[in-house]
Amino acid sequence: MASPDGAPHTADAVGAPPAVEQVKQAAKEQQIDPYNVSGGVDENGNVTAIDYDALRVRFNTPALTQEHLDRFERVTGKPPHRLMRRKLFFSHRDFDKILDYYEKYGFFLLYTGRGPSSGSMHLGHAVPFLFTKELQDIFDVPLVVMLTDDEKFLYTRNKNQGKITKGAALGDFIEYAKQNCKDIIALGFDLKKTFIYTDYEYMGGHFYQNITEFEALLTNNQIRGAMGFDGSTNIGLNAYAAKQCVAAFASSYPTLFGAGDFRAPNYEEARPRKHIAAIPTLIPCAIDQEPYFRLLRENCDRMEFPAPKTALILSKFLTALQGPGGKMSASDPNSAIFMSDTSKQIEKKVNRFAFSGGGATKEDHEKYGGNPDVDVAYAYLSYFLESDDELKEIEESYRKGTLSTGELKKRCIKELQKFVEAFQERRAKVTDEIMREFMTPRKLEFKGNPNATASIEEAVTEKKPEEKQENTSGKLTKGERKALKIAEKKAEKLALREKGQAGEEPKAEDA
Ligand code: TRP
Repeated sequence: MASPDGAPHTADAVGAPPAVEQVKQAAKEQQIDPYNVSGGVDENGNVTAIDYDALRVRFNTPALTQEHLDRFERVTGKPPHRLMRRKLFFSHRDFDKILDYYEKYGFFLLYTGRGPSSGSMHLGHAVPFLFTKELQDIFDVPLVVMLTDDEKFLYTRNKNQGKITKGAALGDFIEYAKQNCKDIIALGFDLKKTFIYTDYEYMGGHFYQNITEFEALLTNNQIRGAMGFDGSTNIGLNAYAAKQCVAAFASSYPTLFGAGDFRAPNYEEARPRKHIAAIPTLIPCAIDQEPYFRLLRENCDRMEFPAPKTALILSKFLTALQGPGGKMSASDPNSAIFMSDTSKQIEKKVNRFAFSGGGATKEDHEKYGGNPDVDVAYAYLSYFLESDDELKEIEESYRKGTLSTGELKKRCIKELQKFVEAFQERRAKVTDEIMREFMTPRKLEFKGNPNATASIEEAVTEKKPEEKQENTSGKLTKGERKALKIAEKKAEKLALREKGQAGEEPKAEDA
């Protein structure tokens, strides 16, 4: 297989994703965690595509099935999103439970994030946000977006053995976060129900209380197992996981639900509210973030004010232009289409670099047909083309060989240009003032599910004091003694599990 300009897809291909550059090493397994994403390498030194089924088995996350999509449609009255239909979002945890809760209480919290590693986002970054935005529109629920300037700073410093490098000073990450924030806003989020923050700015109040509580629940061994760290990893990066985890708790954002936050000048609410802590959260994210959220789910109920187990909807990665085995990388301009690319650049990149599943020659292609399953132009089209019928027609004619690689790329280029141009128009209008509005903690306005059986008010408001059975004797009640016993047993079990490795969740819970 070759690209239309005849360039071979070898280890030396221009702009090869990191995984491709490691080709000359021995055969090895794919490695996926928050800090590593690469396909395996076979005995011949060729990078193999990421095996998502194997990954699902390793992480023990269930597949997102047709039943989920049907249920989604019944609950929301809207067809399942094309990225769910096309299986970019392919796996989940407790997606059914979040739909149950939404049916009853009519809302939940959406949470996603981005590590600002560069000033401009690429398609691979934009697509999950696009999905999140459409979920927000469909469910009409509040959304928090975490920009992890601290994580990217710590990670880069760690990689560079503590040395300050160009473009990677602390202030650079603060700046990238702002640029990314504007990019995210330009994807069309609704100000009324969206709060975007950077860690350096927002951490404090109840959020920081949750962080330290969560830090107290995680051990070095767990973090090393889940993230692939060792004793030489800087301590900041070790501690960071707690931050990304508690960002899923509604109680980290009381202001969004109209409550106080124990920050200047308002010191009334010293501790998070129990009822806000009980609001469940759904996280749309790529599957490399799963190790964080496995730790999160294992510990939700060990908080003083417990949160329900966070639900996840997990995506595959957008492949690099060079094809399977790597993902789009911000540090490699030729592996990705950037949201700041011009129409000309998009055309050039797709034509020159997009890995093709077409035949080696025109004759071959017409005779044997092409393979859309590995074709990058086809893959990108599948993310953006809304019509299932048109996509099917493209797939079939490509397989038959009646649609040429050149024509397929042309169709893909047109769709990408349309998306990126519309984005750039909106991006140009995102001023500092607009950015600051999104970044201001404030009570969010959302309507949720109009058919819910209970009210949002009911869910977020603390029960009135007279409804509570106040126990003033100082002794534990029977119920409290029982709860304490259960908590102790759980802690024991967890301690045992963490002696092994970063405990995989037991099968039973997903059954
Ligand atoms: N760690 C993520 C990254 O490097 C950023 C992030 C923070 C995130 N919170 C999240 C991503 C929640 C998805 C969901 O990009």
